[in-house]
Amino acid sequence: MAEDKIRLAIVGAGAVSDYHHVPAARLDPRVELVAACDTNAGLLQQRRSDWGVEKLSADPLEICQDPDVNAVVIATPNETHAPVAMAAARAGKHVLCEKPLGLSADQAGEMYGAARDAGVVHMTAFTYRFAPAMRYLRHLLTSGKLGEPRHFRSQRFLDWPETSWGWRQYQATAGAGDLYDMTIHRLDFGMDLLGPLSAVCGAVARFVPRDRTQDGQPCPPSEVDDWSSLIGEFANGATGVWEGTTLAKGYGRKGFGHEWAEVNGSEGSAVYQLHCPNQILLGRTGEDLAPVDVPEEFLKPAGSPRDPRDGEPSTVFRYDILWEFISAITEKRQAEPSFYHGWLAQIVADAVLASHRQRRWIELDFPSEAQQ
Ligand SMILES: NC(=O)c1ccc[n+]([C@@H]2O[C@H](COP(=O)([O-])OP(=O)(O)OC[C@H]3O[C@@H](n4cnc5c(N)ncnc54)[C@H](O)[C@@H]3O)[C@@H](O)[C@H]2O)c1
Repeated sequence: MAEDKIRLAIVGAGAVSDYHHVPAARLDPRVELVAACDTNAGLLQQRRSDWGVEKLSADPLEICQDPDVNAVVIATPNETHAPVAMAAARAGKHVLCEKPLGLSADQAGEMYGAARDAGVVHMTAFTYRFAPAMRYLRHLLTSGKLGEPRHFRSQRFLDWPETSWGWRQYQATAGAGDLYDMTIHRLDFGMDLLGPLSAVCGAVARFVPRDRTQDGQPCPPSEVDDWSSLIGEFANGATGVWEGTTLAKGYGRKGFGHEWAEVNGSEGSAVYQLHCPNQILLGRTGEDLAPVDVPEEFLKPAGSPRDPRDGEPSTVFRYDILWEFISAITEKRQAEPSFYHGWLAQIVADAVLASHRQRRWIELDFPSEAQQ
């Protein structure tokens, strides 16, 4: 074991760990993957050879106490995020937790408070902040190139099967459906771009029962939304509109679906699209929106050994999540986005649900980082 490396454990050895976090750990010379944890014994054994990891456990709390581990990635179903993240933080481990942070905004707030008080690095895996086009869009906006921001627009449309979503379709294990799974990323990057929201009016809907598994077995029907939407007002006076669904037929796009996020400013408009993450669309009055290559310095974080030309562009930027987490640990600073940002996004998401239930606008008043 190399003494100077960050000794990482993966809790939840499923899809996102295999797709984002383990390839990212392989690329990062500052990391040693020392342990994997999953309650599925067969999968765990498979990961031993897939990932080349020796230490295996079915118990996340055992991993959290392990003196050989100093950082933990939590990529389990949503209901397990809070107990595992708080145990890890209280044991002094740095924590990168998947989104949504908790099963509710209140739970996400508790997680933030626990991690802050433990003095560890804490990060929420809001993936799309790391897309090169999103990083460049943010730069154009904050450097004033788009002028005064007026409107933000986010669409996330996927064409997924109408069969069971597994743990993702039950209140007790997921908290909410499309809103917590997909739209929550877009709430986070909307506020990263334009600052805090001050009020939202939302709606959600469920169209399909999802009472059969993919292999045709009956299962309890879905309890969560498969369409989520909101309009919002930002504190800076800009307006926003978000819509997400997994039931948009014809939006396959090699599995990446349709993702469009746009800012209209007084001087110009700029658009990020997931299927084309190394370009933005840019336009001014008198022009049509046209593609512009993302400049080199926005293709990856400074210092990263990742070759931005290597691999599928819509996939490989996801490795930069772990790069940021490890950089924050080695540079002894807080990570971005932190658990605080995970909490804020979930406050907005829960306001969307409250707005839909109460059929009215909800005013937002965010807690400061010292609160909770
Ligand atoms: N940031 C992103 O872009 C992104 C993408 C996909 C998923 N996610 C999030 O990642 C998390 C995992 O999603 P996934 O698609 O990998 O799910 P998954 O179902 O493929 O994997 C979850 C794994 O956790 C294991 N598990 C369940 N309970 C456990 C426990 N108590 N202890 C240890 N392991 C346990 C399961 O056996 C499974 O292998 C979810 O919170 C999801 O919202 C984020």
